[in-house]
Amino acid sequence: MEKGRTRVDLFEYQAKDLFAKHGVPVLAGEVIDTPGAAREVAERLGGRAVVKAQVKTGGRGKAGGVKLASDPDDAVEKAGQILGMDIKGHTVHKVMLAETADIKEEYYVSFLLDRTNRTFLAMASVEGGVEIEVVAEQNPEALAKIPVDAIEGVTQEKAAEIVAAAKFPAEIADQVVEVLQKLWTVFIKEDALLVEVNPLVKTEDGKIIALDGKVSLDENAAFRQPEHEALEDKAAANPLEAAAKAKGLNYVKLDGEVGIIGNGAGLVMSTLDVVAYAGETHGGVKPANFLDIGGGASAEVMANGLEIILGDPDVKSVFVNVFGGITACDAVANGIVQALELLKAKGEDVNKPLVVRLDGNNAELGRKILTDANHPLVQQVDTMDGAAERAAELAAK
Ligand SMILES: Nc1ncnc2c1ncn2[C@@H]1O[C@H](COP(=O)(O)OP(=O)(O)OP(=O)(O)O)[C@@H](O)[C@H]1O
Ligand SMILES: [Mg+2]
Repeated sequence: MEKGRTRVDLFEYQAKDLFAKHGVPVLAGEVIDTPGAAREVAERLGGRAVVKAQVKTGGRGKAGGVKLASDPDDAVEKAGQILGMDIKGHTVHKVMLAETADIKEEYYVSFLLDRTNRTFLAMASVEGGVEIEVVAEQNPEALAKIPVDAIEGVTQEKAAEIVAAAKFPAEIADQVVEVLQKLWTVFIKEDALLVEVNPLVKTEDGKIIALDGKVSLDENAAFRQPEHEALEDKAAANPLEAAAKAKGLNYVKLDGEVGIIGNGAGLVMSTLDVVAYAGETHGGVKPANFLDIGGGASAEVMANGLEIILGDPDVKSVFVNVFGGITACDAVANGIVQALELLKAKGEDVNKPLVVRLDGNNAELGRKILTDANHPLVQQVDTMDGAAERAAELAAK
C-alpha cells in the first residue's frame, strides 16, 4: 500500500455501480470513451440521454460537462464536446450516458466520517442539486446534521430521524427512509469514508432516485476489499499526461494500442472513432491515447507530440492524421521528418510504425516530402479510413 494515500475517490459511474449493487435506486447508464460509442448506448437507453463528464471534481454541470442529448446523433455530438474537455484541471477521458429523469425536486443526502467528533454523520437537505457548501453557508438550518452511532448504524428509526430533521415531504418519507438505509449499507459494506448523493431526486411520478453519486473508499480497508483495487484510477497517475501538460499539449491516455496525433479537436475525435471501428476487425485494437497538436504543427511541436505518444508503452502503432489548414501539410511533413531526426539525435529508440495521412492545404507537397524522406517507419495512406485500417492492422501484429 502506498504511504500517505488513505482514500480512493470514485468516479460517478463507479459510485453508481456500488449503489446498484446494494439496491439504491439509480438510472441505467453506461460509460464510454469515444464519441462514436455514444450512438449505440443512447439507442439502448431509449434515444434520449444525459451525457455526463466523468471527472473527480465537482461542478461538472456548471462547467458544461453535463448535457442533455435528445437523440443518438445528438449524443455523439455532446459526447464529442465533453470528451477531452478540461474541468478544473481534470481532463475528461470518459463520459457516462444515463437515462433521463423527469425531475420534480432535488435533495441532498450523505454519510461521512466526522473525524473531529470521532463519529459518523448523516447530512440531509431538501435543498439539493446545488453545491451543498453554499447551502451550509447561506442557509445552514436547511442542512440537517445527525450523528450516527457506528454500532447501531442507520436503523429505520435513525433514517426516520434524518428524514424528519431535514423536513422531507411526507409522501416520500418512506422511500427516503429506505434509500438512506441502503446508502448506509454501501457506506459500511464498502468501507467508505464518504457516500454522497446530490441530487437525490423526486421524479414527476413520485419516485426517489439517486441521480449523482460521490463515494470515497477507505484505502486502509483494501485488505478486506479485494474488488476495490479495480476501482483505482491508473490514468490519473500517468506521468506522460503530466509531461504533455508541461509542454502545453492536450494529451489523453486511453486503454488501447494505437497512438493518435491529430490537429484540431474535431478531427482527433473522429479519428478515435474510425480507429476503434477499424480495430474491431483486428482483434479489438483500440486507441491507446490521443494528442491534439492544434493549429501549429512545427517540427518542435510534432517532436514533443511524438515523443509523448511513443513514450506510452501500450502504443504499438501511431496514426498521424492531419488536415492542412493554416499550417499546411508540407510544414507538417517537414515537422514529422525533423521530429524523427530530433528523437534519434536525443537517443530515443523510435521503433514503432507511423501511419501518416495528410489532406487539405498542400497535401500533395507534404506527401512528396515524406516520400522523399523515405523513413523506414513511416507509411502513408491517403484516406482517413484506410490509414486507420493500416494503423489498426499494424497494432494488432
Ligand atoms: N439522469 C439525469 N436526468 C435528468 N437530469 C439530470 C440527470 N443527471 C443530472 N441531471 C441534472 O443535472 C444536474 C447536474 O448533474 P450532477 O449533479 O450529476 O452534476 P454536477 O452537480 O454538476 O456535478 P458535481 O456533482 O460533480 O458537482 C442535476 O442537478 C440534475 O438537475
Ligand atoms: Mg451533483
